[in-house]
Amino acid sequence: MSIIDEINALKKEKNAVILAHYYVAPEVQEIADYIGDSFYLSKIAVGLEEQTIVFCGVSFMGESAKILNPEKTVLMPDMSADCAMAHMADKESIERVRKDYDDVAVVCYINSTAELKEYCDVCVTSANALKIVKALPNKNIYFIPDRNLAHFVADHVPEKNFIFNEGYCPIHENIKVEEIKEAKAEHPGALVLTHPECSAKVREISDFLGSTSQIIKYATESDLEEFIVCTENGVRYELERQNPHKKFYFPITEPVCHDMKTVTLEKILKVLKTYENEIIVSDERRENSKKPLEKMLEYAK
Ligand code: 13P
Ligand code: SF4
Repeated sequence: MSIIDEINALKKEKNAVILAHYYVAPEVQEIADYIGDSFYLSKIAVGLEEQTIVFCGVSFMGESAKILNPEKTVLMPDMSADCAMAHMADKESIERVRKDYDDVAVVCYINSTAELKEYCDVCVTSANALKIVKALPNKNIYFIPDRNLAHFVADHVPEKNFIFNEGYCPIHENIKVEEIKEAKAEHPGALVLTHPECSAKVREISDFLGSTSQIIKYATESDLEEFIVCTENGVRYELERQNPHKKFYFPITEPVCHDMKTVTLEKILKVLKTYENEIIVSDERRENSKKPLEKMLEYAK
């Protein structure tokens, strides 16, 4: 039996489902039941019939799935898969901002630990941050942890006052203007499609800004044939699957999130066999961090 057949047989036997983010390796996306960006995956996790979720992504994603579905078993193929940015804010700064500002909403990018979410008012993802921040009644917005997504949103919502935090995604921040210009010189007809986690300088020279699923949708619906993609290279799989005749280029230093790439077929098979690497969130933490996640799902409807 091939490893894929073994995974499929075990999935059936154990009533399990596989969720995967666009940044994991192509062979993992290929066997997933649901593939998507952070928003899609958090939405889809709610209301799944299967008892066990194998989450092919990083820990904040598995944690969010568990928080929203406490009765389910959520397994991570690799427990060490983490998002560096998820830790780049702290509760002390939230407390400080709450003291210093009246009428403030603490907006938490879903790329954050469950502990951080406990102190926030609403979660957002890169796909819905703009819509949710615009809809919030508050004048002041403290946006954590990502400074880049925060500035992207602030640029579009001038009526609100933003307080910024200095977190960032090391993979997206490492995407360089010079490398985009080089790619553009080689492919002058290509549009630059960029994730808002990229730096302001990269965002400024881009033709379209959006979450991973929005980038895929934009490229798929466009009449153009060539694109320079400024996000993690895992999206290439879905871009090419949906658009076999189009060309997708990445900056020469390809953006790779090594944490996302720790997920392998062998590790998926192992957790399905052993039920190791279960996500556990204490009742108290779950109760507190569930509120901003549920608020996000409500606002994003
Ligand atoms: P999206 O899934 O919202 O596009 O975010 C990208 C990301 O960095 C996930 O970790
Ligand atoms: Fe975190 Fe960046 Fe990796 Fe996404 S790509 S999981 S934001 S480190």
